[in-house]
Amino acid sequence: MCGIVGYVGKRPAAPILVEGLHRLEYRGYDSAGLATPEAGGLRVIKTEGRVQQLRNLIKEEIPAAVGIAHTRWATHGEPSDANAHPHLDSAGRIALVHNGIIENSDRLRAQLTAEGVSFASETDTEALAHLIGRLMAAEDAPSLEEAVRAALSRVEGTYGIVVLDRDNPDHLVVARNGSPIVLGIGEGEMFVASDVAALVRHTQQVVYLDDGELAVVRSDEFHTSTLAVEASPVVKSPTTVDLVADDYELGGSTDFMSKEIHEQPTALARALSGRLNERFATAHLGGINMEPRELRAIRRVKFLGCGSSYYAGQMGAQLVEELARIPADAEPASEFRYRNPVVEADTLYVALSQSGETLDTLAAAQELKRKGGQLLGVVNVVGSAIARECGSGIFLHAGPEVSVASTKALTNTATSLAMLGLLLGRVRDLSTADGKRIVAGLRRLPEQVAEILAQEQAVAQVAARFADTRSMFFVGRVRGWPVAREGAQKLKEISYVHAEAYQASELKHGPLALIDNTMPTVIVVPDDELLSKNIGTIEEIKARSGAVIAVTNAELPAGLVDAELRVPRNETELDPILFTIPLQLFAYHLAAKLGRDIDRPRNLAKSVTVE
Ligand code: G6P
Repeated sequence: MCGIVGYVGKRPAAPILVEGLHRLEYRGYDSAGLATPEAGGLRVIKTEGRVQQLRNLIKEEIPAAVGIAHTRWATHGEPSDANAHPHLDSAGRIALVHNGIIENSDRLRAQLTAEGVSFASETDTEALAHLIGRLMAAEDAPSLEEAVRAALSRVEGTYGIVVLDRDNPDHLVVARNGSPIVLGIGEGEMFVASDVAALVRHTQQVVYLDDGELAVVRSDEFHTSTLAVEASPVVKSPTTVDLVADDYELGGSTDFMSKEIHEQPTALARALSGRLNERFATAHLGGINMEPRELRAIRRVKFLGCGSSYYAGQMGAQLVEELARIPADAEPASEFRYRNPVVEADTLYVALSQSGETLDTLAAAQELKRKGGQLLGVVNVVGSAIARECGSGIFLHAGPEVSVASTKALTNTATSLAMLGLLLGRVRDLSTADGKRIVAGLRRLPEQVAEILAQEQAVAQVAARFADTRSMFFVGRVRGWPVAREGAQKLKEISYVHAEAYQASELKHGPLALIDNTMPTVIVVPDDELLSKNIGTIEEIKARSGAVIAVTNAELPAGLVDAELRVPRNETELDPILFTIPLQLFAYHLAAKLGRDIDRPRNLAKSVTVE
């Protein structure tokens, strides 16, 4: 959510900044801007709209070898040129970019206004630029570092910031509290970003700032310290990231969603690699540091996540209950800390997050740790805040996910939770034979996902037939219910077609009233013990002239449904993983048919690092 890039080095900064913003655009894309020093002032170029619009505004070469830049997802103030970052103090000396939310900005704004400061934007960020600027305008002016520290001591909220001083353009001051900041270490040049995606083209050597830390970054060195006014130094060594620029390139794909959908067979194979043990018919999850005795002591499992990670958690809860026969459920992480949750000693809590940054999920994990809960993380991004907060868990190994609509991360999360269910089951009553059956089923998944993807054109044709629909139901029973929820979520987020998910069994208790020949229903129909119930639901919909699209691996009676999206057979417990894939393609092609900007759905952002 919002992207930050900073550079101090030996090359012209502007092209590096704009290229970095382009890599971060999936985090926010309603306005963009940059600031560099120039003779007698700061050059600020900013605009509402995409990074490409910013690029178009840069008409000449800008020689400055230092600068800061930002791509925005609006929180305070609508997307506009004035609200775009960077923001300046009144003297035009300080430029600042910010991710996060300054919660007491109204109070700061009122105090500053009373002191005669006039504001150029409606953002929460601008108050911080003025605070720093006023401190630096004092007679015995502090250094930029001291001024940032003093100004931040008056700020409540979350931030990742980078600050540039026109009069001392040999360094940047960077600080973090709740919004990620990473430094990239080059040779005679340094980079700052909110996400390694902006850095890997230049360097693999990075330093992650932790919450409550500040860094002074020069072209050939950096110093980290605590944020307190009475600061103490913090020694941090660079780590090497295992990512290269190609991981963030489209290659031959038209957009990242399509690229990532098609990466699923390899991403899944990576998640399974080395983790299935045929001999003992179980899973080997090296990141979970728990002895069999401790695993056996778990009485309940609770998954916490947001958006698609929450739906993957629902799939996981079903898997854990079936395989391990322990009560399990999933809850939106965004609600958790506000209901004063009862934290039980023998419950295993599992935080689910692709990015490892989602603030709601991080806050739920922190609440759990504070209350002494047993916590694991199931996370894609190594080194991310949630991964570090949890300390142990399962990495998804899905590779970078850039598309706002999550696909391969959801598949790898659900598959990782199937392995967790298998492990918990095999220290309890899941037999060797059933364990072997699940191990073999998991092994077949990558190939079967590839089989589904090979039918993409058939799914695209079905999607095209329903592209002028204004509203759809997605229904499923038990294992099919989270599949329906995720399918509806995918459709609405990228196509803007209204989609509502229901348990198929609940349809007759209310929503059936909406069924007519303008309201199609997508129904998840595995060939399992509930097949006849699902056929009954289809009949009820047909009797009211509703069109039905079935996602199925069953042989349905001829002419029963209007369209079928086919899925190969595996073990019924693993069905949710496979049944989700055609619905990704369905949403994708329906949105494409409507001409939507698939990687940049309106009003959304990839990593939501604010509440
Ligand atoms: C945002 C994204 C969703 C994503 C959710 C959770 O809302 O738009 O696609 O599922 O965040 O993200 P996480 O990185 O925590 O899995």
